[in-house]
Amino acid sequence: MNEPTFDDVVRAAEFLRDRLPPTPMWNYPALDSAAGATVLVKHENVQPVGAFKVRGGLVFFAGLAEADRRRGVVTYSTGNHAQSMAYAAARSGARCVIAMPEGTNAVKVRAARALGAEVELYGASLAESHKRAEELAADQDLLPVSPGDEPALIAGVGTLYRELFAAADQLDAVVVPAGSGTGAAAACLVAEGMAEHCEIIAVQSSSSPAGHDSWHAGELLERPNLTTVDGLATGRAFGLPQRILRRRLDDFRLVSDEQIATARRLLATHAHTLAEGSGAAALAAVLNDDRFAGKRVAVICSGGNASPEELAELAAADMPG
Ligand SMILES: Cc1ncc(COP(=O)(O)O)c(C=O)c1O
Repeated sequence: MNEPTFDDVVRAAEFLRDRLPPTPMWNYPALDSAAGATVLVKHENVQPVGAFKVRGGLVFFAGLAEADRRRGVVTYSTGNHAQSMAYAAARSGARCVIAMPEGTNAVKVRAARALGAEVELYGASLAESHKRAEELAADQDLLPVSPGDEPALIAGVGTLYRELFAAADQLDAVVVPAGSGTGAAAACLVAEGMAEHCEIIAVQSSSSPAGHDSWHAGELLERPNLTTVDGLATGRAFGLPQRILRRRLDDFRLVSDEQIATARRLLATHAHTLAEGSGAAALAAVLNDDRFAGKRVAVICSGGNASPEELAELAAADMPG
């Protein structure tokens, strides 16, 4: 499989220019005090589907052969990739079928269906939904699309980092939440082209550490997938993003689901931002690692599609003053 290049990201940004406005990136002094660092929050939670993934979906469909567009696509997802594909498929008039695990965040299932996708809830995990997607592809002659091993998705989400590095130079680090690793791989690709000296750090939940363990081991591994943070819930690593991560990523860290929940509360109280768990994971890494003390760091608030459970948890929490 071809690796996407920095030039692919530049072309993707040109394509997206009239379709998605740049997302804001703000700094909040109260958050800086709590973090002991200068924190720039890149707000992908304000995308039309509430997550950064939409960049990848639009770029993927833009490059799709006409015959495949007519066939339609099938993919599998825990939610935001689903919304992204549904949003983009609707705009290109393509059929979009998505297998999602049975316990998927109801907000994301509803949104994907409202965008026109045919959603089938199947299996207890993403691995089972993957199998179901393969069956659907064979039975209905749909084009199977991997949520991780797809160059156009990485080039598309790379536009986020092009915007970020154009808006803020002199960053010490960018911290990126990682599930399949497309976002972190895209950050690496763009840093190679625009920000040689900036550290790129990926972060994953310690309850679903497949990507983290694979990067550290230098081989693709499967691991238990127990996180409640759905955007980070994958039990295996994906080959294409891992290849790019091995070349450029500076570090891959783990945070607990509890640390992510604390970061979500802090985003609500100190940055008036509703983040879903994966949208707060990067901040969680900054809050729990001394390496960031006094540094200038961008964190990707990658999504705002909080589940009903996450919303209830926020409402019930003892909020930081
Ligand atoms: C909001 C959010 N953040 C982060 C991620 C992880 O991104 P990736 O799968 O590209 O590593 C996801 C994945 O779905 C997500 O939805």
